[in-house]
Amino acid sequence: MILLTGGTGYIGSHIAVELLQAGNEVAILDDLSNSDKSVIERIQHIAQRNVIFYHGDVRDSSLLASIFQDHHIESVIHCAGLKAVGHSVKDPLAYYDVNVYGSICLCSAMQKAGVKRLLFSSSATVYGIEAEPPYVETMARGVSSSPYGTSKGMVEKLLEDLFASDPQWSVGILRYFNPIGAHPSGYIGELPQGTPNNLMPYISQVAAGVLPELLIYGDDYATDDGTCVRDYLHVVDLAIGHRVALTVLEEPGVHRYNLGTGSGISVKQMVDAFVASIGVEVPYRYAPRREGDLAAFWASASKAERDLGWQPGKTLEDMMVDTWRWQQFSNKAQQSS
Ligand code: WQD
Repeated sequence: MILLTGGTGYIGSHIAVELLQAGNEVAILDDLSNSDKSVIERIQHIAQRNVIFYHGDVRDSSLLASIFQDHHIESVIHCAGLKAVGHSVKDPLAYYDVNVYGSICLCSAMQKAGVKRLLFSSSATVYGIEAEPPYVETMARGVSSSPYGTSKGMVEKLLEDLFASDPQWSVGILRYFNPIGAHPSGYIGELPQGTPNNLMPYISQVAAGVLPELLIYGDDYATDDGTCVRDYLHVVDLAIGHRVALTVLEEPGVHRYNLGTGSGISVKQMVDAFVASIGVEVPYRYAPRREGDLAAFWASASKAERDLGWQPGKTLEDMMVDTWRWQQFSNKAQQSS
């Protein structure tokens, strides 16, 4: 059985479906702080299999001990955490508490139970503000622009030290670039909680008429069209990346992988791609740069391809279509609630 923390969240729910569909037994631990219990039913509906669900906090050591006692857990995928970059600047203690202390509680419980295989949800932000794209796994971590990013780098270091102390550990550090899209079934996606900060949900809410217009933050960056460049990947491809990365845990060590497509696309190109794929206008206006944004970064994706045989299979059009389907599903769900 695989223990998946944060399994009802945006990324975790897609990983749960992927693992179940591949025949794995899955236990989810989630405090539902940024998700909803109904996600469990939706995961089960898509996969046509049941999951075990624990409603609880990853810092609850006694709950963790009982999960490891009650089940034969082979590996843990650790997605639970806080992820709002701007919020982390305002409330850094919450980020170090949940993301760093939460990881310490989880690893301690694993160590006590003799479970030493872990995949960790990390982020491209650990490469730091001075790294030159494409980001390659051999680059050192840099200085992150937010407590959120720092917390991810701290957990990476903690996991490296854990392996140094006990070489039986197998740790997979997965550095996500910009996951977007939703499951093609339309049953799971990123749950809208207030006004979105991230580009893709913002674009789709403007297209749906929920928000009046998109502000494009900055048109004077040193990029082809002056807007920021990122490496957007489909959340289903990201989930597949986790399933295949489980195989590297058979080998003790610290294994680092970028999960990105390997190419960058600008904010303006994203808006144009959405309009071209969906045929709905997205009114936008240029606004000043957003604090903390980097001009451009994307992944070197060759290590994951070489070692894991992982290559994103979804197109930019899939990302747009699946985002839009999910937008309409969640609109309907909100209207009927
Ligand atoms: C993308 C681009 C914005 C909104 C962050 C975190 C990262 C990861 C994903 C995870 C930027 C521009 C956005 C808008 C805009 N976090 N933009 N108008 O900042 O690359 O990455 O989210 O959990 O760690 O740093 O993603 O989607 O917020 O922004 O112009 O209304 O879109 O300036 O250039 P980002 P994003």
